[in-house]
Amino acid sequence: MRRKLAAGNWKMNGIGIDLEQLDRLMELHPNPTVDLMICPPATLIHPMAAKTSEHPIHIGGQDCHTNEKGAHTGDISAVMLDDAGARAVILGHSERRADHGETDAVVASKSVAALEIGLTAVICIGETLEERESGKTLDVVGEQLAGSTPDIANGGNTVIAYEPVWAIGTGKIPTLEQIAEVHNFIRAELEKRFGEDGKAFRVLYGGSVKPSNAAEIFAIDNVDGALVGGASLKADDFSGIITALE
Ligand code: G3P
Repeated sequence: MRRKLAAGNWKMNGIGIDLEQLDRLMELHPNPTVDLMICPPATLIHPMAAKTSEHPIHIGGQDCHTNEKGAHTGDISAVMLDDAGARAVILGHSERRADHGETDAVVASKSVAALEIGLTAVICIGETLEERESGKTLDVVGEQLAGSTPDIANGGNTVIAYEPVWAIGTGKIPTLEQIAEVHNFIRAELEKRFGEDGKAFRVLYGGSVKPSNAAEIFAIDNVDGALVGGASLKADDFSGIITALE
């Protein structure tokens, strides 16, 4: 009942020439049977949205401000993302939590701003290596999930991305059992809080997903797709992941 989703997070990568990767991706997947999303840097949102007007792929932002407009130099609001053609926004990525001190409460407020304008919120949570090694993974993930997901979230407007911080860009991934444990826990927490609708939230895994490991990760219960960094930058790599999900 949950549609699978392959989302690419380009992070601070991509300039005009890289739009050709989007062309190639659409050429490789003219009629995808799963949902697709690319979240490029803000400078590419409008050209990407324009290019994809005839294709089901969604373009998303990587952050938004809690306010609609005002004196916040360098920031972008959810209204602006929407105006540029974005359909979604990644919020609370561990790189933003680390680089910009974003707390769960800030992520929840940003999520409200995004959801109110009709963007899909892709809320990221995940433990550090130290937290995993000291046995705190489920506590940390549970706390981030509860604190970052606003009450107005539902299975139709919000996606949760579980990204263990130590697996991001490192080539290391948790064991399949560890991924299953966290995804089952997230599902149970969502059902506890949102009742039946908790079953409708998509829960993505993120962290060193590649064409070579995607199929085994996607075979895990309650893994509804992936949030992919490095391997989403080249259409041919991302295509391998999409194919594994289809
Ligand atoms: O948001 C995606 C991400 O943090 C994972 O990055 O490069 O390990 O796939 P990567």
